[in-house]
Amino acid sequence: MLNNSGFDLWSKDYDKTVELCEDSREYPFAGYREVLNTVCKYVKEGNGRRVLDIGFGTGILTKRLYDEGAEIYGIDFSAEMVKTAQGKMPNAKLMQYDFTNGLPTQLKEEKFDFIISTYAFHHLTDKQKADFIGELQAHLSGAGKILIGDVAFETREALEKCREQAGEAWDDDEIYIVKENLVNYFPKMKLEQISFCGGVCIIERI
Ligand SMILES: C[S@@+](CC[C@H](N)C(=O)[O-])C[C@H]1O[C@@H](n2cnc3c(N)ncnc32)[C@H](O)[C@@H]1O
Repeated sequence: MLNNSGFDLWSKDYDKTVELCEDSREYPFAGYREVLNTVCKYVKEGNGRRVLDIGFGTGILTKRLYDEGAEIYGIDFSAEMVKTAQGKMPNAKLMQYDFTNGLPTQLKEEKFDFIISTYAFHHLTDKQKADFIGELQAHLSGAGKILIGDVAFETREALEKCREQAGEAWDDDEIYIVKENLVNYFPKMKLEQISFCGGVCIIERI
């Protein structure tokens, strides 16, 4: 699992990596573009004006919403990712912070129309995912939603099938979303499967 220094190093050619991986339709980024498009579609359809991005990286996703006038907040633990994304979105409120500690104090009183995250939640165990999503639900306003795009599967069986296909490329350090593991915590959670390995989870306010 990469730490923040690993992501600092990756920040320079991250955009190129995901593009190449997406084009070759390979695990783990097959469907990457469509996953981001789906998250954007939900935010636009829901008229999301205040958006929090968890693990925003170089800001590929949030920049699109920023350009449409959304007020962007974000947390990411890589100083270089923060620098790159802040360069693209000067007015966004981006914070360097490790989300394994939950949300930073500055955001404790804030509410958002959408809380989004792409390809970052696999750094959390299922228990950590559930606890963090529970914390985030309290920060949704009105009909707000949490949208998590990542390597994601309906069932453990589907994950195992993907692991077999991926062979040596499979990353054992990453803990992908398996809906049947999380649905006990969030019974109304939905998963929109986008590619053989990518999907978007949709979780509403309690
Ligand atoms: C694979 S990148 C995804 C970036 C972007 N969301 C995207 O879809 O292209 C994962 C991002 O999550 C951040 N990240 C990973 N673990 C984190 C943690 N514990 N706290 C904060 N950020 C984290 C990394 O620094 C990196 O920017």
